[in-house]
Amino acid sequence: MLDKVKELIGEVNDFKATTKEELEAFRIKYMGKKGILNDLFAEFKNVANDQKKEFGQALNTFKNAAEGKVNELRANLEEASLNTSSLNDLTRPAEPLNLGSRHPISIVKNQIIDVFSRIGFTVSEGPEIEDDWHNFTALNLPEYHPARDMQDTFFIEQNPDILLRTHTSSVQTRYMENNEPPIRTLSPGRVFRNEDISARAHCIFHQVEGLYIDTDVSFADLKQTLLYFTQEMFGKSKIRLRPSYFPFTEPSAEVDIYWGLETETDYKITKGTGWLEIMGCGMVDPNVLKNANIDPTKYSGYAFGMGIERIAMLLYQIPDIRMFYENDVRFLEQFKSIN
Ligand code: PHE
Repeated sequence: MLDKVKELIGEVNDFKATTKEELEAFRIKYMGKKGILNDLFAEFKNVANDQKKEFGQALNTFKNAAEGKVNELRANLEEASLNTSSLNDLTRPAEPLNLGSRHPISIVKNQIIDVFSRIGFTVSEGPEIEDDWHNFTALNLPEYHPARDMQDTFFIEQNPDILLRTHTSSVQTRYMENNEPPIRTLSPGRVFRNEDISARAHCIFHQVEGLYIDTDVSFADLKQTLLYFTQEMFGKSKIRLRPSYFPFTEPSAEVDIYWGLETETDYKITKGTGWLEIMGCGMVDPNVLKNANIDPTKYSGYAFGMGIERIAMLLYQIPDIRMFYENDVRFLEQFKSIN
């Protein structure tokens, strides 16, 4: 008796069905009203008392095996029929196509380029691995100049001449070497600084720098251009220029915009002042022009540079710079753009 049940368990486990009809026949044979399972349960009372426990357990195993098999095969067949019917039904709506979204850094970069291209700026790019001349020396930062410490540098293989650019001003050096004034160009790109990573700073980030060189370019031109930019980009029309220092510009300034103090967030991000620093700028130092073979007695120019992450954090109220690089789709999907 017990052997018979064990044999039946084996049979059930090995069973395969390719159609619903086969499965139904199987179900009726084993689990139907007059099926084998019920017959066996009816036999139970005839089993000797000392064997009842073992027989009962075997019966339960058999029952579970049969039920499990029916459920498993039913699910398989249903899935298979779903698959074939979706292929056959040509009127069925297409699967939704999931369009990716642009990275917020790209969106903001494109917006900045768009604003400046409307007043005649072109875009220029350059290498991320730079030499000392283009990143530092030509920009009025000779060897041992203390201001080199302003931008902690990654060097390549102990060679102090080859480095990861610390700003995209290096692209402007290259542009000045290869183009005659008038020059109006933007250099967006990735830059690298050997800094500790925190919510506000990262060792890899992005900048857009701008350079304008022509005859009679004045500080007033710079200020007017910056005002135009902040109006277009943020809808804010109050800026202030604070004296600052950059080796490649003289005079130099930090640009603050008046963000306002309307909300609690405004208080937080402006530390209660209403003002926010957004970029550095200044009049191109005559030495920089000379280094690029541009005559500083004939030409003058201005330059400015900003971090894209910083601007994006302001525009989208992003609290932590690291979110840009984590590639978490829940974060990235929130940004949609047409350009
Ligand atoms: N290159 C500067 C920086 O990376 C920014 C800057 C550009 C400042 C041009 C003034 C003029 O910090």
